[in-house]
Amino acid sequence: MHDALLDSLRRAVQAAPTDVALRLHLAELLIDGDQATEALTHLGVVLQHDPTSAPARSLLTRAMGSVGPPRTQDDPVPDSVATPDPVTEPDSVTTPDPVTEPDLPRRDQAEQPTDGKAGFDWSRAEGEFAGVVPPMFVDGDAEDAEGVPAYDVERSTVTLADVGGMEPVKARLEAAFLAPMRNPELKALYGKSLRGGLLLYGPPGCGKTFIARALAGELGAQFVSVSLADILDMWIGQSERNLHDVFELARRNAPCVLFLDEIDALGQKRSQLRNSAMRSTVNQLLAELDGVSTANEGVFVLAATNAPWDVDPALRRPGRLDRTILVLPPDEPARAAILRHHLRDRPIASIDVTKLAKRTDGFSGADLAHVCEAGAERALLDSARTGTTRMISMSDLEAALREIKPSIRPWLESARNVALFANEGGQYDELLAYLKTRKMA
Ligand SMILES: Nc1ncnc2c1ncn2[C@@H]1O[C@H](COP(=O)(O)OP(=O)(O)OP(=O)(O)O)[C@@H](O)[C@H]1O
Ligand SMILES: [Mg+2]
Repeated sequence: MHDALLDSLRRAVQAAPTDVALRLHLAELLIDGDQATEALTHLGVVLQHDPTSAPARSLLTRAMGSVGPPRTQDDPVPDSVATPDPVTEPDSVTTPDPVTEPDLPRRDQAEQPTDGKAGFDWSRAEGEFAGVVPPMFVDGDAEDAEGVPAYDVERSTVTLADVGGMEPVKARLEAAFLAPMRNPELKALYGKSLRGGLLLYGPPGCGKTFIARALAGELGAQFVSVSLADILDMWIGQSERNLHDVFELARRNAPCVLFLDEIDALGQKRSQLRNSAMRSTVNQLLAELDGVSTANEGVFVLAATNAPWDVDPALRRPGRLDRTILVLPPDEPARAAILRHHLRDRPIASIDVTKLAKRTDGFSGADLAHVCEAGAERALLDSARTGTTRMISMSDLEAALREIKPSIRPWLESARNVALFANEGGQYDELLAYLKTRKMA
């Protein structure tokens, strides 16, 4: 239905190439239909005739950005630029159903005669936005809910194939989770338990959270991600309760990857402070990990930290978070894969990913994502300024590279001290080996 509509609009544009409104309408539908590249061509034609056209520029921003992070509810709907009459805006608010959007272009609705505010159906809007916008007044019992953090269960859309490089990490996850999942009878035979968990550590922005989410996608499991810092509560007993709630949530949603971020928040200088409240939270986590009274079957615990040396030693004893995986900055093939991943859906031309990967030694995954975004931004601003749409080029990315510095150096410096002087039991041998390859140890 939608494709047929697009086809007839394309024919109409061909028949009337100077009809700007028609072309903009087609471009808008193309963007909604994830065909941003074709939309760019039409917007280019419009902007060549009228470089100041506000609707064309706004659509251009959308077309270039439709490959970036998805639009959230807070973002302005760029369509409103095409229909600057503020009186008509509430109408578009009453039709938030995204499924019907492509077939019901808002432009048409906005052009419907409206009798101002009288036409706006407040009660309908309230119904539709309940749950999104907090109520104006609440009664007493809502107070109980306050202070209890809400944890989201999500279905991950990324899989390990989306993770560039990181082969050693993938191999470890394969051995620890994926192989036993796929071969339950072998698991029973060898008594290999899925209990306990893995501790991912490494410099910031190198993919710990990303790979945990990808593991969930790979397993077809739910994903629950919590930061330990958010769980900790000043009220005695509340931290334990929060922790228990999170594990219960994961158990209810099994198979589920439970990702405990910033696990070091639990161990921070605990012994110095003799903080007994923290002690019982650690004990609670140990009990939850052991799953004594409850089955942890199908709950895969991954914990992450930038500072493994701050993690409470009790948590790292055998059977708990005893297996550690070092998540290192991406090597050259990994960087190429990460760059490709982040450029995949953007309008690019003649990008030499291998060359970029060579020149980004020491960049984290997050640094590389940033380079791609900055490059796209340059092309976008340039297109808007000159009125001629153009693709993201190698020079955009090279310019971005000149401005963005790798961010992991400070982490490596502090890790170096630990690896050299506090490597008890050889627990940081892997890290030490890496530092040697970088001539830092
Ligand atoms: N191997 C990878 N392949 C593709 N993208 C990656 C990879 N590693 C990192 N990224 C990108 O970098 C971003 C940051 O990674 P992530 O948030 O997982 O880092 P982190 O190790 O959890 O950092 P932090 O310690 O700050 O929490 C990801 O959202 C992703 O866009
Ligand atoms: Mg993270």
